[in-house]
Amino acid sequence: MKVMVVAGARPNFMKIAPVVAELERRGHETVLVHTGQHYDTSMSQSFFDDLGIRPPDHFLGVGGGSHAAQTARIMERFEPVLLEAKPDWVLVPGDVNSTLGASLVTVKLKTQLGTQLAHLEAGLRSHDWRMPEEINRVLTDRCSDLLLTPSRDAHANLAAEGIDEDRVHFVGNVMIDTLLLRLDAARERDYAGTLGLERDGYVAATLHRPSNVDEAGPLRVCLEALARIAEKMPVVLPMHPRTRQRAEAFGFGDLLSGITATEPLGYLEMLSITDGARVMLTDSGGLQEETTVLGVPCVTLREQTERPITIEQGTNRLAPWPLTVDGIIASFEEALAQPRRPVGENCPEGWDGRASERLVGALESVRMPAVAVGA
Ligand code: UD1
Repeated sequence: MKVMVVAGARPNFMKIAPVVAELERRGHETVLVHTGQHYDTSMSQSFFDDLGIRPPDHFLGVGGGSHAAQTARIMERFEPVLLEAKPDWVLVPGDVNSTLGASLVTVKLKTQLGTQLAHLEAGLRSHDWRMPEEINRVLTDRCSDLLLTPSRDAHANLAAEGIDEDRVHFVGNVMIDTLLLRLDAARERDYAGTLGLERDGYVAATLHRPSNVDEAGPLRVCLEALARIAEKMPVVLPMHPRTRQRAEAFGFGDLLSGITATEPLGYLEMLSITDGARVMLTDSGGLQEETTVLGVPCVTLREQTERPITIEQGTNRLAPWPLTVDGIIASFEEALAQPRRPVGENCPEGWDGRASERLVGALESVRMPAVAVGA
């Protein structure tokens, strides 16, 4: 079986790492494509290094730009690579523009090539059509022959959209495979310790959603809340380039003065920070899942989450919306009152370190009829 695995942005890399390893362990041919949506060393190469991912076979170098420009470049540059490789499967993870761009190219060439499309992390829904990721998820699921879900709630979402259940396979959370495999190494690296932070003695935060950082008002609210929390407990904020650019443009340097604001962190550094935190405040999807497994109380700085299972079963909660300084602080206090849970306690089904085995098993076992999706 020949599987083309496509990745482009930071949250993709921890998802593809265990899958590529498992495919190769079972003797399948893999073709690794990096679109170049993320390109800084700290957003890309450092993840390949930390996670032992081999160099990509194809680097498309698409870089940044508007959604239209970026997605179009991904499509233009991915098409010839797919035409040449003619794999049995294209596997796309997550919900970024690279996911959608590669999916559209694959489904449009399906009749010609017979290549089938598999979506890793299918079926998650925020039900917020203003989020670019929601558009990417819904359209990728619609194009996919095989929908590989990380949690059972995804099945109800897909059924509600009329997607045939024969195409949907529960595999669990591959990102947790990576976390469980690398946790000891992250603890050894002890990046938190090198910043002078003591386990359970600090707050970790991340911010990068356009709805939180692109406009001055919401970004000021988030940073003010962090500054107030930092008066009580050290706060570490690894800064996404988007957030750094906006904070500088709005002149918010003073709000960062009491916070340890770092450059974007590599995988092991970020895992060290997350694992040792007393509370996480974040608008990331992946960190809601990682804190659930690590048992770290989490406050999500968004109106809704496409990962409700992290609230039902995990350690997560949504801050009151619209975000206010007092609302964020109240949620933080609630999280602070919640004890840390042992790693892996009361985790969602399939968040067990073996999701990539189930995923590759699904690819091996499924033979789809060669008809167009939706025909
Ligand atoms: C993208 C994903 C988002 C994901 C996030 C994780 C989409 C629609 N969004 O958002 O779902 O949560 O990645 O990080 O795909 N930049 C750099 N260096 C880099 C990458 C980006 O400086 O290596 C800067 C550029 O100014 C770029 C901006 O960040 O224009 C935004 O990058 P982009 O890939 O468009 O979106 P993200 O905000 O990273």
